[in-house]
Amino acid sequence: MPNFVTVATVDEVPPGELKQIKREDIRLVLANVEGQIYAFGWECNHTSGGPLYDGWLEGLEIECPWHGGRYDITTGEATSFPACDVIPVYEVQVEDGEIKVGIP
Ligand code: FES
Repeated sequence: MPNFVTVATVDEVPPGELKQIKREDIRLVLANVEGQIYAFGWECNHTSGGPLYDGWLEGLEIECPWHGGRYDITTGEATSFPACDVIPVYEVQVEDGEIKVGIP
């Protein structure tokens, strides 16, 4: 069972935006797609490890800014070359304006 940790407020992640969460124990990206918050790993798994928090959201996909690999942010699965493996995705809860992410 994951441990839910508050990482941001909803106000910090407007619709269509990304937010990097970088703390000692947690590194991930929050995305707001039409009011729904998603959380996924910040590092592209292509060999160069591109920063997905600087990528582009298109629907429910994130595109890596370095070589254009894409991932489904709901499953973490790669959807476009050169991304070729899954990235982690995390459960999200929103309570009283706070975003909580389930850390395994
Ligand atoms: S580092 Fe992300 S596609 Fe190459």
